[in-house]
Amino acid sequence: MPGPDRQPGSAGPAEPDGACLDAPAFHRNHGPIAAVLARHLDAGGGHAIEIGSGTGQHALAFARAFPRLTWWPTDVDPRHLASIDAWRRCGGAGNLRSPVRLDASGADWGLGGPGRPPAGDIAAVIAINVIHIAPWAVAEGLVAGARSCLVPQGLLVLYGPFTCGGAHTAPSNAAFDAYLSSQDPAWGVRDLDAVAALAAAAGLPLEAAVPMPANNLTLVFRKAGRRASAPPG
Ligand SMILES: C[S@@+](CC[C@H](N)C(=O)[O-])C[C@H]1O[C@@H](n2cnc3c(N)ncnc32)[C@H](O)[C@@H]1O
Repeated sequence: MPGPDRQPGSAGPAEPDGACLDAPAFHRNHGPIAAVLARHLDAGGGHAIEIGSGTGQHALAFARAFPRLTWWPTDVDPRHLASIDAWRRCGGAGNLRSPVRLDASGADWGLGGPGRPPAGDIAAVIAINVIHIAPWAVAEGLVAGARSCLVPQGLLVLYGPFTCGGAHTAPSNAAFDAYLSSQDPAWGVRDLDAVAALAAAAGLPLEAAVPMPANNLTLVFRKAGRRASAPPG
């Protein structure tokens, strides 16, 4: 796969458990993504849902970095769900919940059911390297699901490569886009303007587009509306 940040999250096993998959890109991107989260996220409490958690390494790292949030890793791939749970079991983060099967291609995420994220108090929805390695319906489902579950002022955070004004920002991204299309014509690097328009129409205006290593961006969308004030005392 061309490009330096392009692992699908299912590379070989790593210590400390044979079920723990290791994504090389995680080691390069989790620190910069956490720094963006720290600048934008109200980490005072509530829940964060990660869509397409893959290996589960980001969920564990972010649970450790933001201990006042309850982190819910999710995916659709059984092998990835097993890896997420293996990292959770060896990670020692009490605020990291067991992985949940969640298909983001629709707006109904089944929240509030047993063992699933709650239907309310969701402070953030995060998807790292997901929407370009999935049909556009997943971007639509992510935005629709985030719209319905986020608290006012909650964040939708998307990390990955994007075109800007329809143009690739680096030759490696163009090569990666061609590779994705060769794998599945429904996959491809998404355009920043198209994603921002989709989110804005759902009441999630773009707050920041932060350049990241390896020609990626972190997009931060904040749900419109006034947050309920905390009760006195
Ligand atoms: C390229 S991997 C990224 C994994 C991880 N976020 C990372 O950056 O290492 C994309 C992930 O999205 C998941 N995925 C694909 N389609 C999905 C869908 N419809 N709903 C939820 N997750 C999906 C895949 O199973 C995979 O784990």
